[in-house]
Amino acid sequence: MIPTKMEDLINAQINAEMYSSYLYLSMSAWCSDKTWNGFAHWLRLQAQEELAHAMKFYDYLNERGGTIKLAAIAAPKADWKDIPAIFREVYAHEQKVTGMINAMMAEAIKQKDYASEIMLQWFVTEQVEEEANASEIVATLEKIGPATGGLYHLDQQLGKR
Ligand SMILES: [Fe+2]
Ligand SMILES: [Fe+2]
Repeated sequence: MIPTKMEDLINAQINAEMYSSYLYLSMSAWCSDKTWNGFAHWLRLQAQEELAHAMKFYDYLNERGGTIKLAAIAAPKADWKDIPAIFREVYAHEQKVTGMINAMMAEAIKQKDYASEIMLQWFVTEQVEEEANASEIVATLEKIGPATGGLYHLDQQLGKR
């Protein structure tokens, strides 16, 4: 059996990953609306990845004989100032998620819950990549500044993801 505290944390994380998916899908919709189709594509794929993360936790909790408790998913915001504002928020959100994963890892270690520790290692690695991807886009957007041509080019590039 999985420790109760870990079961609670995993249930909370299923919700957090679902919320991440919802947030990125909302950002994708905003981009589509402004015909930034490349950014929309990138964010939509990101939303799908977050769903896959939620299901990874879901499957793990099932396998460990835990009880899945699905809570309401909060509504994400629907409006942003511009493209850089969106990606700054993606980066900040990923940093927040990293904090949650780290807190789960700390709990697994504390409880000597080795199975959860091994499962969480995948997410620790994944968060390094997620943060790197987001911060790279933020840095590129900062270089581009207000140049529409540069923004158009990046939109094309992210559309190839
Ligand atoms: Fe995630
Ligand atoms: Fe993520």
